[in-house]
Amino acid sequence: MKINTQSIILSLVAASTVIAAPAPIQKRNWVVDKLKPLFSEAVKTLSCTACVAALIGVKEVSLLNKNWVLSAGRELCPALAKQAPEVCDGMVELYGNALIESVIKADISSGDGKLICHSLGSLCPAPAVTSGTLTFPKPKPAKPVAPTASGQLIDVLHLSDWHVDELYAPGSEAVCGKPTCCRKFTDSPTTPQRAASSWGDYGCDTPVKLTQDLLKYIPKVANVSFAVMTGD
Ligand SMILES: *[C@@H]1O[C@H](CO)[C@@H](O)[C@H](O)[C@H]1NC(C)=O
Ligand SMILES: *[C@@H]1O[C@H](CO)[C@@H](O)[C@H](O)[C@H]1NC(C)=O
Repeated sequence: MKINTQSIILSLVAASTVIAAPAPIQKRNWVVDKLKPLFSEAVKTLSCTACVAALIGVKEVSLLNKNWVLSAGRELCPALAKQAPEVCDGMVELYGNALIESVIKADISSGDGKLICHSLGSLCPAPAVTSGTLTFPKPKPAKPVAPTASGQLIDVLHLSDWHVDELYAPGSEAVCGKPTCCRKFTDSPTTPQRAASSWGDYGCDTPVKLTQDLLKYIPKVANVSFAVMTGD
């Protein structure tokens, strides 16, 4: 059997530069060293090219281990995004996995990257709408007839943007200067300027207590046939 050693070595070298995971001890520095300049450039320039380059870096590291990107995000975010560590942790927890999943499935350099960077904050222009053909299971009816109304009325519950905050802490600072207040942050003052009330605060997200009370109250005023939940 003839083995082409040279090509095996070449492909091993190529493979190792692309996919080799670093030794655990060097892993953290390796990931941070790789992502930090990409993230910094994207945040500094807010340019489409820098954003797409950062996504390519995120995808490369995510394919090795998604957790490394999440921990690098937590580590780099406070300085880059100028947010408190707790806010950064929350952002990484809320958006990190969704972003990583999208990036892994995306073909970054083919245009998906620009689309993601557009959704992330209009860092790239909106890609042009492409034309395509959509096939419906059935053709459009020639003479559509609307069903006749039964005359029976039903109650429909529409909940929108209810922003339940499981971390809402009564008594905490309601005007904290962060995107989300009324939580126990490590840097919270001992005496709040305005203490979060147990039923909520105008400037904060909704406490669980208020949400539960709302849900208990609804059946007293409506026989809900179905509910629609929109917003976040
Ligand atoms: C991914 O990284 C995390 C945190 O460093 C580690 O606990 C986990 O075992 C790693 N997973 C794989 C598949 O290497
Ligand atoms: C819900 O329907 C029941 C049975 O028809 C009725 O007794 C009740 O008053 C209704 N509740 C409301 C809030 O409309």
